[in-house]
Amino acid sequence: MLFLYSLVILLSSVSVCVLSVSAGPVLLDRSSPCQSQLKHLHARQQVTVQIPPDISGHWVSDSCEVRPGPEFLTRSYSFYPNHTFDALQFYYEDSRCRQPSYSLRVRGGFGPAQASWLVRGAAACEYRLTTVMLRCHGPASAELLQRRLDPACARQIRLRPGESFEMWAEPLDCTRGLDFTMQELRLIRVERRGRHGDAGGRVEEELFLGDVHTERAQRRLHQPSGYQTPLHSAKSDDRICQIVASADLHHPPVLPGQVERPVRLDGHWVSVRCEARPGVLFLTRRLAFHEHTHTWEGEYEHFSDPVCRHPTFSISASGRYTRGDPSDTVMGAVEFTFTVTHMTVTPMDAATTSLLSVFSGRVSVCGEGSWERGVPQDVTSTGGCVALGIRLPHTEYELFTIGQDSSGHTLLYNGQRPTNGSSPDRVERRPTSYQPPLIRCDPQHASREGDQHFRLSGASHTQIIVGFVVSVVLHVFMQLDF
Ligand SMILES: *[C@@H]1O[C@H](CO)[C@@H](O)[C@H](O)[C@H]1NC(C)=O
Ligand SMILES: *[C@@H]1O[C@H](CO)[C@@H](O)[C@H](O)[C@H]1NC(C)=O
Repeated sequence: MLFLYSLVILLSSVSVCVLSVSAGPVLLDRSSPCQSQLKHLHARQQVTVQIPPDISGHWVSDSCEVRPGPEFLTRSYSFYPNHTFDALQFYYEDSRCRQPSYSLRVRGGFGPAQASWLVRGAAACEYRLTTVMLRCHGPASAELLQRRLDPACARQIRLRPGESFEMWAEPLDCTRGLDFTMQELRLIRVERRGRHGDAGGRVEEELFLGDVHTERAQRRLHQPSGYQTPLHSAKSDDRICQIVASADLHHPPVLPGQVERPVRLDGHWVSVRCEARPGVLFLTRRLAFHEHTHTWEGEYEHFSDPVCRHPTFSISASGRYTRGDPSDTVMGAVEFTFTVTHMTVTPMDAATTSLLSVFSGRVSVCGEGSWERGVPQDVTSTGGCVALGIRLPHTEYELFTIGQDSSGHTLLYNGQRPTNGSSPDRVERRPTSYQPPLIRCDPQHASREGDQHFRLSGASHTQIIVGFVVSVVLHVFMQLDF
């Protein structure tokens, strides 16, 4: 079991490799602007995690969220001490959450949160639904959803805009056509982060709920092992949180208009936090794009723990990319094609080192030399790492967009990987939703020091193409386990 677990971790890291460095060994560059920014971020934020978490309170979205499909929504969830919840999901026509389409008010009960055996640092929770109210905000959504109802429901319910309908009148479950799920309640994590610099020791609270399967048909049974964009405490003074917190089923939130931001990748980006990925992976990503040469590099550092303190392996990947057209499906996003041509793997702990050694010795070729902890090995010459399911060169169809955090920092989002562990290696598998964001780490963009390679030190993160690796690992995991 331990072996399998390590293997999964190992594999996941390998898939990350896809991103690797373009040439030669990765240099440890502690003087780079990204490095200092990462250290700064890490030192300022003291994260505390409660297990089991206390989720009572009111939690809201701080942005227009994108789910696979795509679906655009905001969420406003209340959890009460008497173990009931009242969850509002507001759906929109557009990726800026300015044109409400329909809304759901879901009520039910939840059990005590218990430590998850699937994801370290998370809690698992059972829930049951008692009511699901649907309200369409216009004739178009009423018509669309009416067509999606199954025949038994369609006979009983005639959806009309501006009226609320009960969709969960047991034994009749009319929520199917909505592709609606609350499986996200099955994986929970609450983070409280104090900001040392802030007067009064302001504390930010975030609620992480389980991820939503990228295939609609799988959503209702999906057991989450990763997270969605976190919800924020409604006490936050963030403007969008306030708007979402004050909305109700009859008055869906309309987010403020934003200036259209050009999607420019050029520069250096790092993870905002230690990222948890489906398949029990924790990682930080660091990516660099060079627009003039159409090349990129990525560093994916993997960890065994949810605060990214204990490294297991890191992957450096590099390659080329080309910019495509603005997306038809997600307004404000741009399509890209990425190729990974070089990859280096560095085992960072004893377990990963011995696993890699087993692979390179027996199963198949993965690097030419023997593996040593802390020593990077280029696996480009062996065409990747066949034993780990990584073949180079590798091409992926990507989706990128640019956003902004509440402090005005520029964020970069790239596509979420299919939950089933496959890779978006065909045009029709191009993502419609995003991974957690990266933040620009070279604010003096113009004065950045050439195209140096970088390396995450141990605590922070890089993330963009990391999805490559993760997909591979998951795939292997499923083959082994099911
Ligand atoms: C639980 O508490 C909430 C908020 O106080 C209340 O609205 C709800 O009716 C209570 N539910 C039950 C079953 O007691
Ligand atoms: C995984 O999902 C993709 C679509 O997201 C599908 O095309 C592919 O066949 C699936 N692969 C497996 C192994 O289930």
